[in-house]
Amino acid sequence: MSRSWNLPSPSSKLWGGRFSKATDRWVEELNASITFDHRLAYYDILGSLAHVRMLARQGIIPEIDAVAIGEGLRTILGELQRGEFTFRLEDEDIHLSVERRLRELIGPAAGRLHTARSRNDQVALDLRLWTRDAVIALGQGIGEVVRALLDLADQHRETVLPGYTHLQRAQPVLLAHHFHAYVAMLFRDLERLRELYRRVNRSPLGAGALAGVTYPVDRQYVADLLAMDGICENSLDAVSDRDFVIEFLGDLSLLMTHLSRLAEELILWSSGEFGFVEIDDAYATGSSIMPQKKNPDVAELIRAKTGRVVGHLTGLLTVLKGLPLAYNKDLQEDKEGVFDAFDTVSLILRVLPPMLRTLRFRASRMAEAAAGSFSLATDLADHLVRQGMPFREAHELVGRVVAYCEANTKDFPELTAAEWASFHPLLAETRPPLTVWDAVRAREVPGGTGPGQVSQALEQAAARLAEEIVWLEVERQRVATAESRLLSGASL
Ligand code: ARG
Repeated sequence: MSRSWNLPSPSSKLWGGRFSKATDRWVEELNASITFDHRLAYYDILGSLAHVRMLARQGIIPEIDAVAIGEGLRTILGELQRGEFTFRLEDEDIHLSVERRLRELIGPAAGRLHTARSRNDQVALDLRLWTRDAVIALGQGIGEVVRALLDLADQHRETVLPGYTHLQRAQPVLLAHHFHAYVAMLFRDLERLRELYRRVNRSPLGAGALAGVTYPVDRQYVADLLAMDGICENSLDAVSDRDFVIEFLGDLSLLMTHLSRLAEELILWSSGEFGFVEIDDAYATGSSIMPQKKNPDVAELIRAKTGRVVGHLTGLLTVLKGLPLAYNKDLQEDKEGVFDAFDTVSLILRVLPPMLRTLRFRASRMAEAAAGSFSLATDLADHLVRQGMPFREAHELVGRVVAYCEANTKDFPELTAAEWASFHPLLAETRPPLTVWDAVRAREVPGGTGPGQVSQALEQAAARLAEEIVWLEVERQRVATAESRLLSGASL
């Protein structure tokens, strides 16, 4: 798409009737959204094609003009796609740019397109159509990350690492279980986007500027043409709320927060201190001064860009919070942030799956760490409980064993039978569970790290992923079919 921002000329605006002076040069600059809302061009044309079809069907404008408008809009779309469309700052926004070009192409009939419509309901529609596509695209991207995590989990059903609380070794867990935790988070992220989709996919057209329009429009027909699931039920609300954008940014903020935690773990795990994982050369960078360095920049950027996305959410919440009904120009500020958030998240969803797939884990190092720091203390207490001791008493007793070991620089497996017996006769009689595998296998509770449970969880996750992918693809095709019907000029 060509982006030459021609300087304003004194020529009149499409809304210029009541004005006697040209707009100030710097006001043009401040007022215009064309420098960023040109991204909505495709959706603007789709919306106009549906609107004009409805206007003719309802007898609001002559069929012959509707046909000319439809052809003109399709020509403009071609120009946009070939990068031949010239954007001008004085046209303000994408809506006026398209209408100006339509007038150049087909003459006065172009003036009928904006019947029973305002830029206020028009821009709300465009952004809803854009968000609908964005949700599907990001949903598919999340699906790729889930798939990579599930593949990793599958390869690491027998890799044990320390589970942490407070970043202190706590209890051993399977690496597969750890990855499945992120899968569970990402499924909720998908679920949130899917719910948002239902709320986004409604048509605001017919709301007009704010109060509804004076023509016998068929709002549902427009929604049907656009494969939307219904209409926005209140005209004031339809043009003035951007809660769907805020929700979208909220969903992306949570998604990024999840990915940021994963990134943070990769940063920690790839450090010399942990030494659990090596990041592939294609997903790491070097230092300009220290020849030995291999830095986890990708993971760091995922962590940092989370702040950027959350910033856009905060920005738009702040823009919205004091606005009286209905449309206010402040709403124009909804776009740059949401476009940037989408671009940022899209890029990360592209980079992350192959980065995950090429990680090299050091299973022996992880297993060693998992066994250290008395990470089996809870299992020892549970062992005593199974012999009849109340848990609090067992907790206290094992605490004393740990203190003894620390004072004598010993670990549990190094204690002699006599030492065990000195703490409690029960410990002399039965062998306590002392390997990480004992600990992992003991946790066959639903949702736990027991290998049987983890296998089941991975199977269920794979089935769920397949379902999500089907939903996304079916929806993508339903929308694509409606859009190509509109673009080809075929009727419903
Ligand atoms: N560029 C505007 C926006 O993004 C379009 C709507 C303008 N409406 C108006 N009444 N000035 O919000």
